[in-house]
Amino acid sequence: MANIIVLGTQWGDEGKGKIVDLLTPGFDIVARYQGGHNAGHTVYVDGRKIVLHLIPSGILRPKTLCVIGNGVVIDPRAFLEEVEALRAVASVGPDRIAVSAKAHLILPYHGVLERADEDRLGEKKIGTTCRGIGPAYEDKAARRGIRAGDLLDLDVLKGKIADNLAVKNPSMRACGLEPIGAEEIFARYAAFAEALRPYIRDTSRLLADRMRLGASVLFEGAQGALLDLDHGTYPFVTSSSATAGGACTGLGVGPTAIDAVLGVTKAYTTRVGSGPFPTELGDETGKTIARRGDEFGATTGRPRRCGWFDAVAVSYACRINGISRLALTKPDVLDGLPEVKVCTGYRYKGGLLRDFPSEPWILEKARPEYRTMPGWPSPVRGISELGDLPPAFRDYVRLLEDLVEARAGIISTGVEREETVFVEDVLAGLVDRPAVRKP
Ligand code: GDP
Ligand code: IMO
Ligand code: MG
Repeated sequence: MANIIVLGTQWGDEGKGKIVDLLTPGFDIVARYQGGHNAGHTVYVDGRKIVLHLIPSGILRPKTLCVIGNGVVIDPRAFLEEVEALRAVASVGPDRIAVSAKAHLILPYHGVLERADEDRLGEKKIGTTCRGIGPAYEDKAARRGIRAGDLLDLDVLKGKIADNLAVKNPSMRACGLEPIGAEEIFARYAAFAEALRPYIRDTSRLLADRMRLGASVLFEGAQGALLDLDHGTYPFVTSSSATAGGACTGLGVGPTAIDAVLGVTKAYTTRVGSGPFPTELGDETGKTIARRGDEFGATTGRPRRCGWFDAVAVSYACRINGISRLALTKPDVLDGLPEVKVCTGYRYKGGLLRDFPSEPWILEKARPEYRTMPGWPSPVRGISELGDLPPAFRDYVRLLEDLVEARAGIISTGVEREETVFVEDVLAGLVDRPAVRKP
């Protein structure tokens, strides 16, 4: 059985939650490898909306084991609240969820200092989710982070909290904030330790043991390739490795264990927070897409910026992730538009760029070169049979496939599980990997 990575090819919110939930019955384990509760993955089950933040989107199917890897940063309170909220719709508990002992923890000072930093940046702010994600990864890189495994020994935990506050409290004072008491944090985290302890495991070992016995794993990405710390639109990125390589480092799994990568791609583009966005629409069409796509952040509720499909960006995402198959989502949002546009290149300083530039100041000034296609006269919303898709829509899909050099194996036409077209047996197609290649 195949092990695959499912990740976003744009700036997040591509519909990863729906696609992961849809594919979960074909897997024994769903494993998250990066990010934290900055993610908001929405799944609809029989009309009921469920938003997952930290817990993998496989939790809504019975029996699947959900793993939270070492590459994830965990706010214990957010984790425990999410577990409680899920009790009404799923079986949750240590038999279903395993948390890596090596995952770093988010502490209260992370969010407080992040907000102060964003305020200080003013117009230049990143527009983060202010969940403490970036500062927790900063401490990880600075080698003073507190990990889930530290919750297993309260003396170790106490010492680490004291050591960290010796660094953080001067920063808090410098920002005009009240210092935080070590005893107060220790008492809170000791209580979390009690509740979290049964979930904490050596998840790399767990995955290796289960895979050796034939278990298949779906690796679930959060955020999107263009928000990746290395490969995204730096500095307007998140602080983790959202691209395919992150699955290996974020779970302690070797690359040879992974068969293929499925890229989740919205039929247009959205972005939350600051940063360059060449195809952003500031006009009525942009507003129509935002309204019809219900484009508000699943975590912060902020309006998402909307624009046309950017084939330069998605082609880049396919290249750096080794994607041959796409799950195309939300084309129904474009139903009824007289015409649709696709960005095929960027005009910059008199030249035409076909490659996604890594410098944000180039992207800021890049003017999209569009290919315009007619819209499709009948809606795709709710369609589940390939043959029912209107020919003009299929032409649009073919153009996207040709431009990004990957084939759409799944087309999602609505929020519900049933509102999906399986163009092929996507798992079999993925493993064969005959990507669309330009001559
Ligand atoms: P994720 O972060 O990638 O999991 O995506 P989000 O859940 O943040 O945002 C995607 C939104 O689009 C959610 O509200 C989904 O319910 C919704 N969605 C997913 N697929 C489709 C689709 O094909 N059509 C429509 N109209 N909505 C979709
Ligand atoms: P899912 O998994 C969309 C964005 C934030 C901000 C930048 C950095 O639902 O697709 P952070 O709090 O991570 O330091 O913020 O990244 N961002 C997301 N945008 N979807 C997400 O997750 C995001 N997670 C972070 O808006 O621009
Ligand atoms: Mg989301």
